[in-house]
Amino acid sequence: MPAPHSTIDDLTRALEGAGYHAPRQLVTAVFLAMRLQRPLLLEGEPGVGKTELAKALAQVLGRPLLRLQCYDGMEQREALYEWNHAAQLLRMRAAQASAAPDEIEREIYQARYLIRRPLLQALEAPAPGAVLLIDEVDRADEPFEAFLLEYLGEYQVSIPELGTVRAVAAPLTLLTSNRTRDLNDAVKRRCLYQWLDYPERERELAIVRSQVPEASAALTEQVTQFVSRLRSQPFANAFQRSPGIAESVEWAKALVALDTLTLDPEVIQDTAGILFKQREDVAALQPLMDQLLEVQ
Ligand SMILES: Nc1ncnc2c1ncn2[C@@H]1O[C@H](COP(=O)(O)OP(=O)(O)O)[C@@H](O)[C@H]1O
Ligand SMILES: [Mg+2]
Repeated sequence: MPAPHSTIDDLTRALEGAGYHAPRQLVTAVFLAMRLQRPLLLEGEPGVGKTELAKALAQVLGRPLLRLQCYDGMEQREALYEWNHAAQLLRMRAAQASAAPDEIEREIYQARYLIRRPLLQALEAPAPGAVLLIDEVDRADEPFEAFLLEYLGEYQVSIPELGTVRAVAAPLTLLTSNRTRDLNDAVKRRCLYQWLDYPERERELAIVRSQVPEASAALTEQVTQFVSRLRSQPFANAFQRSPGIAESVEWAKALVALDTLTLDPEVIQDTAGILFKQREDVAALQPLMDQLLEVQ
């Protein structure tokens, strides 16, 4: 059997087998990221499948997934490594009576006293390497981006007490951004870039079908049609945030739980908190209801 990623079609099929339905352009970007050993930056609204793609890829490629969830104020010791001070201290205490200070220092700055965080783990993963997910990098701050620049360029880090750690095999690196801010240009230049849009109807239909098989074909059709209208003009303008794929899936599950056979204004309003997470958006739904439900 050929490897699941020997062609773009193979990779598409393998991802589908893992429950991830990807458009060709996205699979092409992943394929190239692997071939060219370049990081891939995925941008898009929340809930369009950025994080899920990394999980599905790790699964189909049989590689470990290492995930770094970014946030403002994240420090290198959470991303890269830190020394296990408690273990070092114990060792120092035990050695104090018998060893010279120099010797003790050499002893406690060895690899076994390191606590490895995802970015270091990704360098040390054996061939063919890990899938490294640097998730929601737009939440991290500028100093972290600057650090990342070096990491992505060389796939190596320098640990002052130990020396340089180089990647055993370049990790397949995916960065995601919900675009709450623009990323540093230099970081972008290091990466291949792919914008993830809301799915076309057919693809969303396939996703909801496979994730909520208990929903009837008719209900699944109605759910995807309604959500896709919510995301389209002129309706999308009325909302601060459109529902993502995750919301469509959740909504279908909720409607099944309520034994809904067909959508009507009442059940939509009662379950609006699944589609929208802002009070204003829930309120904006009511006046548009008839138009949204109009048969096209
Ligand atoms: N292409 C896809 N195929 C299958 N399921 C998907 C796809 N995209 C999104 N999903 C579903 O939507 C959920 C949210 O996606 P996620 O990757 O968390 O979004 P993001 O990271 O872009 O905010 C996933 O858990 C998955 O159930
Ligand atoms: Mg995500």
